[in-house]
Amino acid sequence: MRIKIIQKLIDKIRRKKKRKIEKYNLLKKGKDTVLLSNFSIAGGYEDKVRIGSGCMLACNLIFESDKGEIEIGDRCFINAGTNIISRSKIKFGNDITVAWGCTFYDHNSHSLDWRERVHDLEQEIKDYNETGDFIKNKNWDVVKSRPITIEDKAWIGMNCTILNGVTIGEGAIVGACSVVRENVEPWTVVAGNPAKVIRRIRHE
Ligand SMILES: CC(C)(COP(=O)(O)OP(=O)(O)OC[C@H]1O[C@@H](n2cnc3c(N)ncnc32)[C@H](O)[C@@H]1OP(=O)(O)O)[C@@H](O)C(=O)NCCC(=O)NCCS
Repeated sequence: MRIKIIQKLIDKIRRKKKRKIEKYNLLKKGKDTVLLSNFSIAGGYEDKVRIGSGCMLACNLIFESDKGEIEIGDRCFINAGTNIISRSKIKFGNDITVAWGCTFYDHNSHSLDWRERVHDLEQEIKDYNETGDFIKNKNWDVVKSRPITIEDKAWIGMNCTILNGVTIGEGAIVGACSVVRENVEPWTVVAGNPAKVIRRIRHE
């Protein structure tokens, strides 16, 4: 009896996980790509996402408006708790590893002018009360947005933050807990806040 109940529970969890992944069937994704159960696309913008083949993804892809684009190449691994938030474009090349808990944010969310931030809040409350969607009529004109590019063979360590406008060069490594706000040269290891070069990598 007890075994039957446990089996039923396991089946239920499996069905739930399967339904969640089937939801992303419309997604353009290559052969053999695995979307793990923590993978998600917030905002329902599956059409803004392109994923290559041979990837394993457990990250969250987030769009806060109808603009933005996320492209992931072939053989990329992006672990759970990593949020990729796009209003401009975030592009990952091939053979990239991203550890737990990173944030890729291709815009600043708010203006540098405090009055605009107060206006954001007033608009959010109005939109929430009227539509339930608190960023429906956000004024994006005052928000700086610039694309992020992660080139082939890069490795981003756990809990890193990659800010708007940054390109991380081919084969580069970003040390754990770094904040990257300037371009990273190919085949270098950078670390810290702000991330600085700590060594160069020999490669053929
Ligand atoms: C970046 C990394 C790979 C470098 O490893 P390494 O080449 O063995 O580096 P070292 O330990 O010899 O450190 C070299 C220097 O960089 C500094 N450094 C290394 N990682 C750092 C980090 N994350 N933040 C700040 N400084 C760092 C060290 O303090 C050392 O400085 P010093 O020369 O002044 O003493 C490693 O430190 C790291 O951050 N790994 C992350 C692993 C991870 O996130 N795994 C998750 C699973 S994918």
